[in-house]
Amino acid sequence: MTKILTKHFDTEPKFHELEAYRRLGGYESLKKALGMERAALLEEVKKSNLRGLGGAGFPTGMKWSTVPPEDKVPGPRYVVVNCDESEPGCYKDRVLVTRAPHQLIEGLLIASYVIGAKDSFIFIRGEYQVQYEILEKALAEASAASLLGDVKIHLMRGAGAYISGLDTALLETMEGKKAWPRQPPPFPTVAGLMAKPTVVNNVETLSMLPFIVKEGGEAFAKLGTPKSGGTVVFSISGSCERPGLYEFPMGVKLRDVLAACGGPLPGRTLKGVIPGGTSMPPLMPKDLDIALDFDSVRAAGTFLGAGGMIILDDTVDAVEVAHNIERFLAHESCGQCTPCREGSNWSERILERVLEGHGGQEDVDNLSRVGDNITGKVICALGDTVGMVLKGYIGRYPDDFKKRVTHG
Ligand SMILES: Cc1cc2nc3c(=O)[nH]c(=O)nc-3n(C[C@H](O)[C@H](O)[C@H](O)COP(=O)(O)O)c2cc1C
Repeated sequence: MTKILTKHFDTEPKFHELEAYRRLGGYESLKKALGMERAALLEEVKKSNLRGLGGAGFPTGMKWSTVPPEDKVPGPRYVVVNCDESEPGCYKDRVLVTRAPHQLIEGLLIASYVIGAKDSFIFIRGEYQVQYEILEKALAEASAASLLGDVKIHLMRGAGAYISGLDTALLETMEGKKAWPRQPPPFPTVAGLMAKPTVVNNVETLSMLPFIVKEGGEAFAKLGTPKSGGTVVFSISGSCERPGLYEFPMGVKLRDVLAACGGPLPGRTLKGVIPGGTSMPPLMPKDLDIALDFDSVRAAGTFLGAGGMIILDDTVDAVEVAHNIERFLAHESCGQCTPCREGSNWSERILERVLEGHGGQEDVDNLSRVGDNITGKVICALGDTVGMVLKGYIGRYPDDFKKRVTHG
């Protein structure tokens, strides 16, 4: 099985240290990249079909190519690593930073070269104290070995808001403001941090770059499906015997992922699989043979997201799951858009009533209506999620909701 990011995880316990990373070929891609034309590198990234692994799956090469050239927009431009990772179910960035900080730094330096950024940032979730220290140490090692060139890499810590993981809210946070998402356009690549052109990419996305530079965009693309190149890292939890981090080629069958992690647990039957973190409806047992890539999962009515896979079995109550997710979203709603601020709290309270056995069918109908009145009517995808999760669980597990409203 081809692995890119986690290839050395089982065999090199010191992969996080510069010496081991370099012994295994680390920073050779940076050297190669610095000897190439920036336009040629951008072409390789486009050819690779690398898509953003922070959740949205936006083609990375396309994003980068919307940064205006220096002769049109002079002045600074930035690359920001999104390591906020607050989506329930996701923990791959935490492990990637812990085990392979230099892989990320090398990817960031390659991206900074292509974009022309002299100041780049790693924005890390505040709770990731250990990972912050690992990055501090790795940056000091890279600096001492003169690997950073003329790029300054700044580490910034979040303060515990899920919404700060959304790129434009993250930029607001970095500017010292309240984390309210911006309404694009302009997009960050045109006016991002301090209104300067800014590329925001996820940890996993940037960590793929050393491989792409070394092996070429085509080789990376070939590993995946026609529109989603390379590999994807799942952080797996829930009903399975071997939870943990798994790297597969894009397009791997859900059936094969479950076989690898031993899910669902013995004696249990599969109820669903949340493919990419809790902000989405689950895949169903009928979906075992779909290919896990951005477009196929979307065609199945949900998202690949950030690979935070949660396996649900027959002991799980869909009303409880929906309530748990909506409670989280209501807590994390930034409050900027009325439909999300109010609707997420109503949803939580109505679900609580249904969960406690005091609800009726009209509550379930109301939940769907509330969902319709949020999705598409708010600035950011957190609000869309509130509606999507409600409708997703009610639509997929009508019997669980019916049982609660008829039998309490
Ligand atoms: C509510 C919300 C939270 C998000 N949290 C994260 C996050 O923690 N990390 C991340 O990389 N992307 C997160 N995203 C996606 C980012 O907005 C953005 O698409 C991503 O950082 C771009 O990087 P990529 O193209 O490499 O995926 C979030 C999006 C939403 C709507």
